[in-house]
Amino acid sequence: MRKPVIAGNWKMYKLVADAVATALALKPLVANANHCEVLIAPPFTAIKTVADRLEGSNVRVAGQDCSTESEHGAHTGEVAADMLRDAGASYVIVGHSERRQLYSETDTFVNRKARVGLAAGLTVILCIGETLEQREGGIAERVVSRQLTGGLRDLTASDLDRIIIAYEPIWAIGTGLTATPEQAQEMHAFVRRVFAERHSEPSAGRLRILYGGSVKPDNITGLMKQTDVDGALVGGASLEAETFAQIVNYNR
Ligand code: PGA
Repeated sequence: MRKPVIAGNWKMYKLVADAVATALALKPLVANANHCEVLIAPPFTAIKTVADRLEGSNVRVAGQDCSTESEHGAHTGEVAADMLRDAGASYVIVGHSERRQLYSETDTFVNRKARVGLAAGLTVILCIGETLEQREGGIAERVVSRQLTGGLRDLTASDLDRIIIAYEPIWAIGTGLTATPEQAQEMHAFVRRVFAERHSEPSAGRLRILYGGSVKPDNITGLMKQTDVDGALVGGASLEAETFAQIVNYNR
């Protein structure tokens, strides 16, 4: 049995006071959500305060990104994975499409981030997903397979148990245009198959694959009914505690 993961990605939203208020509002609303792991990814500046205030609750904290460098040093503007851990995060998101598209991150880069995240003891959420152009051009699977393989290069078998994949078709992010449950299922099954071929059937069987892209309270249940959908990475709809809690407490 794979335990679902419902993760909120706050992107570049929320000053510390708002982040804390949202986290504290969320806490009681999801306190009984034993069916899944619940996590939120505040901006770097709010991680420590939010994590402190959530201590003892079932809500975990994630970083939205980390440096490719594991050694502390002269890397202005970067945040090392162990700094995230130190601030109270236990997960890190790497390779989000906004990082790939707006900041030119390559699979090699994303792979380094995944490796340093794992080395720092974090669980890594690796994001993959095709553009609309790639889907319409019939190369969505090729793109996703390349991102998966590139992102997971040189990971050990035990590393793989601390990897979560988030399939986020770029055409569905922030657009209100969700993939249908069938489209999500089809790609998730493909991802699991590629993972099994590259690694092993048992580790593929344990791999959690989240769907992301305009997940809302009214479409989460249909997505979660799919065999290979093991949770969601939620952007816009995670910014408000009540809405995010409705997604966490989807109809099971
Ligand atoms: P969205 O974002 O839910 O606002 O589409 C998802 C994401 O970027 O992780």
